[in-house]
Formats: sequence, structure tokens, C-alpha cells
Amino acid sequence: MFTDSNEIRERILALKKEKNAVILAHYYQIPQIQDIADYIGDSLNLAQKAKETQADIIMFCGVHFMGETAKILNPNKKVIIPDMNASCSLADSCPYDDFKLFKEQHPNHTVISYINCSAQIKTLSDIICTSGNAVQIVNSLPKDEKIIFAPDKNLGGYINRITGRDMLLWNGSCEVHELLTAEHVLKMKQQNPDAIMVAHPECNPAVLELADFVGSTQAMIKYIASSKSRRFLVATESGITHKLQQDNPDKEFIIVTQNESCACNDCRHMKLNTMEKVLDTLEKESNEIILSEDLILQAEKPINRMLDISKQLGIIK
Ligand code: 13P
Ligand code: SF4
Repeated sequence: MFTDSNEIRERILALKKEKNAVILAHYYQIPQIQDIADYIGDSLNLAQKAKETQADIIMFCGVHFMGETAKILNPNKKVIIPDMNASCSLADSCPYDDFKLFKEQHPNHTVISYINCSAQIKTLSDIICTSGNAVQIVNSLPKDEKIIFAPDKNLGGYINRITGRDMLLWNGSCEVHELLTAEHVLKMKQQNPDAIMVAHPECNPAVLELADFVGSTQAMIKYIASSKSRRFLVATESGITHKLQQDNPDKEFIIVTQNESCACNDCRHMKLNTMEKVLDTLEKESNEIILSEDLILQAEKPINRMLDISKQLGIIK
């Protein structure tokens, strides 16, 4: 039993080497986990890394659907996650049977699903997208193509507005982004009149309307790095500030919160992962993601289609 945080860190790093494991971590993970990861990224970067890795074990520090995606892209590797209960309100808002019925009720539609969905929903999809490529994926289809977009109504609505499309939207949302209100954003803007506001497209339309820049986690990081402004209101999950502070020590970041009673905007699912759990899982090689061969075969098609289109368009290398 290790009690010292340095000891835990050292033990994880040693085990990683010993077992030829790679640690992939989403930007929403706690700073200590981001600091031991081999790759930190948003959903698109991490899906690509999961496909390319030569490691025997993938330790995916994110939420369950991300572990599933890594397994689908790398079925011969052992994929483990720190906590099996790390789900996602967005993925959970789209149950398989309900979505299958919705799809049957709207035949002749191409189904584009945001990567934040279960492996089962991926099998009902034609193309997967992430917030980092969603607009380009939609624009790669003919203007008159009938599209169902699932499960995030906010990202789907944002794409409809900027592409002029009329995609049918599944009524799902991310609890972390959806609950931010324009009312509170306006208050924060009044308190910080010099700050530039960036927002993730999972936020509701009224909040997005107030943002100076809307983009995926990676896009916001890039935008802030190249901006001459010094203060930023950041409407997304708090974990992003670790990377932002590292990259921009001279800039200040204020996380947009749901109200005055807290100073952060944490995803309770992402934050289930701790260093202790990473160590325990890696030691025991427990919490393995197991998916049937058939499910993997069906779910990998729309993800590979996304990766192929993203490469063709130069979004990823
Ligand atoms: P991205 O990583 O695609 O920006 O998505 C944010 C998110 O909510 C992940 O769960
Ligand atoms: Fe899901 Fe939202 Fe948490 Fe991302 S931030 S894992 S979309 S609940």
C-alpha cells in the first residue's frame, strides 16, 4: 500500500515500463494523471493515438466510452480504465433501443454520431465525429443529404447554424456544459470586461452566442496560445486549465461556472479517476474493456470512416 503521492507516481511509471503500457489521458483528468500520461489530448487525438500505439496495454484515463473506442480501434490490445463507473451523461442520454427506433422512424438518413456515445450506438452510425472535426465531417457530405446527428443536441444545433443544414437532432446533452447559463456568463463578463470568452460547442446556444471563439478542447487550446489577449473566460470543463497554464504562464484563465457557489466546472465522471486507481488497475490489469468481436467489427467502421475523412482533409496526420 503506497500512501505517498510521489511513491504512487513512481510506481505507476515503473509498472508502465515493465508491462509495456501506454497511458492516454483526456484533458479533463486531474493534473497528476495528465502529468504521468504518454499522450494527453481531446477525443480526436486520443482516438488516433489509441489506433497507432504499439504498447501491449492501453490504460485509458477518461470515461468508459473512450476506453471502448480504444478497444474497438485496437482489439488485440488489453484496454483498461481506472474506474468502470466513469460514465458520461451524454453517452447515457442515448440508449440503444430508443435510438434504433428513432433511426427506423427516419429512414434514408445518414447517421453521424458524436464519439461520446456507447459502442452499441456506434454500430447504428454511418460516421463518427468529434468536436474537433464535426463541422468538416458534416460538410464532407452532399448539401442535400438527410442526416441524423446524435447524441448531442447542442453540438448538432451549432453545426446546423454554421453550415445552414437541417440535421435531425437527438435530444441528448452533456451535463457539465449544458448547465452553464447565459445569465451567469453575462455576470462573469461584466466582472471581467477585458477577458476573451472561449466555449466548447457542447454548451447551450445562449452561452455559445456570447462566446468570442467556439471550438473543441484542442481548438480552444490552440486559439488561446495564438491570442494576444491575456485574460480568458473559459466555458468548458475545469481540467483544461492545467494545460492552458503550462502553455501560457503569462495568461489568466477563469473557468465559467454554473453559479457563484463554486469556482470550477468539473465532470464528476472524469474526476472519478485518481492516481490510486490508476496504480491499482495497472498492477492488477483489472477493469478491462471487453467487447464481442461482432460489436467491434460493426463499431469500427464508422470510426475508421471518421479517421479516414479527417486524414483526407488534413485535420489529423
Ligand atoms: P473533446 O475532447 O472532443 O473536446 O470533447 C469534450 C468532452 O466532453 C469529452 O468528454
Ligand atoms: Fe460526458 Fe460531459 Fe463528462 Fe465529457 S464532460 S465525459 S461529455 S459528461
